[in-house]
Amino acid sequence: MKVMVVGSGGREHAIIKKIKQNPKVTEIYALPGNGGMKDDATLVNIGAKDIPAITEFAVNNNIDFAVVAPDDPLVLGAVDSLTAAGIKCFGPSKAAAIIEGSKAFSKQLMKDYKIPTADFRIFNDAQKALEYLETAPIPTVVKADGLALGKGVIIAETREQAKDAVKSIMNDKIFGDSGNNIVIEEFLTGPEVSVLAFTDGKTVVPMVSSMDHKRALDNDKGLNTGGMGTVAPNPYYTEKTAKECMEKIFIPTINAMNAENRTFKGCLYFGLMLTENGPKVIEYNCRFGDPETQVVLPLLESDLLDIMIAVADERLSEAEVKFSGNSACCVVMASNGYPVKYDTGYEITVDSDFDSNLYFAGAKCENGKLLTSGGRVLGVTAVESTLNKAISKAYESVEKVHFENAFYRKDIGAKALAVLKGEN
Ligand code: AMP
Ligand code: GLY
Repeated sequence: MKVMVVGSGGREHAIIKKIKQNPKVTEIYALPGNGGMKDDATLVNIGAKDIPAITEFAVNNNIDFAVVAPDDPLVLGAVDSLTAAGIKCFGPSKAAAIIEGSKAFSKQLMKDYKIPTADFRIFNDAQKALEYLETAPIPTVVKADGLALGKGVIIAETREQAKDAVKSIMNDKIFGDSGNNIVIEEFLTGPEVSVLAFTDGKTVVPMVSSMDHKRALDNDKGLNTGGMGTVAPNPYYTEKTAKECMEKIFIPTINAMNAENRTFKGCLYFGLMLTENGPKVIEYNCRFGDPETQVVLPLLESDLLDIMIAVADERLSEAEVKFSGNSACCVVMASNGYPVKYDTGYEITVDSDFDSNLYFAGAKCENGKLLTSGGRVLGVTAVESTLNKAISKAYESVEKVHFENAFYRKDIGAKALAVLKGEN
């Protein structure tokens, strides 16, 4: 089988490495991929948002199965275009990807179908939003409606900050057209859990839970990033909570999307907060999370490609989706200065005794050398029988990866470990 994966980050590298384990696979293409993936996939210089070129490539190269991983091409309709050209795909249609593409849509969906989430108001007029903020409960959360590279959320501790957020998003357009509409919502507190789920619109199968570490610096300080590390499973996510989420959130969401004629097929990401009033949805993503995928897929014992094909064929109920009882920890190694300003072009070397999983994101190949090319350069994932061991092993392995200006958090998994030890 010839498979192609659209995207270029650590998530895509993890997907590619897992798909490669299927003996039926003869060729994997990454569009565009990155230099660090070159031993695992054939790199094709087509951008992830260039839907006509992606479709043409798939047709001309007789691709048997396509996986569209990032949010942008999904929201722009890559799966619709590929499907119309006769290519079988994993990923939601444009109509379903709106669950991530528009926060106004997803918030309204949750309200209409009584899926627990933070209380909210939607505004398309800055003046009205500012008036509302005169009396709104503080702290509050201001969100751009559309995609904003994970940066469109501003937590305002004061009324002034909230008003500034509205002005920057709606008037100054710091997130472009993504800020034409905004959501202002209730500030919730509680542990966060990421749950990725396979769904074909009929069946929903949650994967092992995980915990992201979004802030740049240790102890959750510094700016929000694309994610500095992850652990799985997430110890806050007990069996009782999992059952409650299935009944009150996962199944109702799948049903709601069907009722709206927006059947979701692919990986649906539930960003949850476990509040004192029960689990609530913070956000939906229409795709695998990054870097959640880098800890979830190494724990998947079943064949990823078989599951993805079952989703595409709407027979997920027949597929085996089994996770090992192990734990995983992923430490992201970034360029110093990320997420603001950083230098690139440094050579990446890996000691020969490195024996964890290595997923490249911001890497390029030049004259036979692997060089840094982005903020998040790579992720190191260790899988062990306990979380404690997985964390130690991941950090041991990080010491075996070298590039100038490397930066990583030293406390990935520390909070999860404290929960397991009963300290939280
Ligand atoms: P998002 O981009 O929607 O994942 O939001 C980024 C982060 O902002 C989340 O992971 C939460 O930590 C935080 N956040 C978003 N919405 C809320 C909320 N209503 N209350 C508290 N924190 C929130
Ligand atoms: N890790 C969060 C995301 O993928 O959006």
